[in-house]
Amino acid sequence: MSAATARLRVGIAGLGRLGKRHAEALAFGTRHVELVAACSPVEAERDFARDSLGVERLYADFDVFIADPDMDAVVLVTPTSLHADQAIAALRAGKHVFIEKPLALNMADCERVLAVAAERLDQVAMVGFVRRFDPSYVSAQASVAGGEIGRPFLVRSQTCDRNDPDGFFVRFAPSSGGIFMDCSVHDIDLARWLLGRPKALRAFATGTIALHPGLADCGDVDNGLAIVEFEGGARAVFYASRTMAHGHETSTEVIGTAGKLLVGEHAARDRIVRSDAHGVRHAVLADFHERFQAAFGAEMAAFVAACRGDAPLTLTLTDAAEATRIGLAITRSLHSGMPEVV
Ligand SMILES: NC(=O)c1ccc[n+]([C@@H]2O[C@H](COP(=O)([O-])OP(=O)(O)OC[C@H]3O[C@@H](n4cnc5c(N)ncnc54)[C@H](O)[C@@H]3O)[C@@H](O)[C@H]2O)c1
Repeated sequence: MSAATARLRVGIAGLGRLGKRHAEALAFGTRHVELVAACSPVEAERDFARDSLGVERLYADFDVFIADPDMDAVVLVTPTSLHADQAIAALRAGKHVFIEKPLALNMADCERVLAVAAERLDQVAMVGFVRRFDPSYVSAQASVAGGEIGRPFLVRSQTCDRNDPDGFFVRFAPSSGGIFMDCSVHDIDLARWLLGRPKALRAFATGTIALHPGLADCGDVDNGLAIVEFEGGARAVFYASRTMAHGHETSTEVIGTAGKLLVGEHAARDRIVRSDAHGVRHAVLADFHERFQAAFGAEMAAFVAACRGDAPLTLTLTDAAEATRIGLAITRSLHSGMPEVV
């Protein structure tokens, strides 16, 4: 982008659960942006973009969408199995690209994207690890990097969703890569970030199906546990659940030689604590979006700033590829029952 005042012309592909939220933020809540185009094979989703967001250029076909010459950047919120090919097509069409997490479900796809991005260093390619933009995680990481807890050596991190009795994610499971690639990939990226990007060596995982037997058909579980060993002695423990009774509870503990930090404990929705004859309690977060709404805004602002040349990104495609590599080893261990080399 040349002039500081010029608005980045963004197109979005995918208007499902998360895509609609990103599209609304791009249309109404992100500075220096104009949402100029949207792509979805689903007519009702294109109607939403036209009627609710005022987007005029609507595409059913991704290949036609990506060739739109009046678009500087694209935001991909499509099924994970499409990310690599679509990201490569976007880069080859000369667009900056934001890719929802995870980057891809296998290393060959990650490496294909990295190779094309490496040839086009003037274009931004960013993967949406939204927790890196959450104010509490940003502050915790800065404290750890500043030496506040001494040498960090252990991360315990969980992503736990409230149970969805409709089992949306059971239908989603065949294309999501399973609970670790879909949910724990956030915790994996956080662990690497908090521990200073150590190399992962080995992973072990196990899991159970507590409420959703349909997951067995694709080898998935609704509650999974994993341990990862890193070079230099650091360790991480991950827990992912689809079946919490109370609400969405993402929390992370990072333990160091001189202290520890805890982010997000108890899933508190606000700062009100009610005390009465029934006990002491607070309201609970409903879902990931409620928890990370501010972070989603900051994440998109960071992408736009990078595209405009206003601020560089610290989150790299290599980080995203490493998260996939670790997630894959964990998933292999879930299936084999044995520790797996990362
Ligand atoms: N950062 C987070 O916390 C977070 C949360 C949820 C989902 N995600 C990621 O976002 C992505 C989408 O997830 P979702 O839950 O919104 O899924 P979804 O199934 O609700 O939406 C997928 C969308 O992609 C569209 N689509 C399908 N094929 C397409 C194509 N060829 N071209 C263009 N659009 C196409 C669908 O019509 C739909 O609009 C996934 O990669 C997921 O991992 C990230």
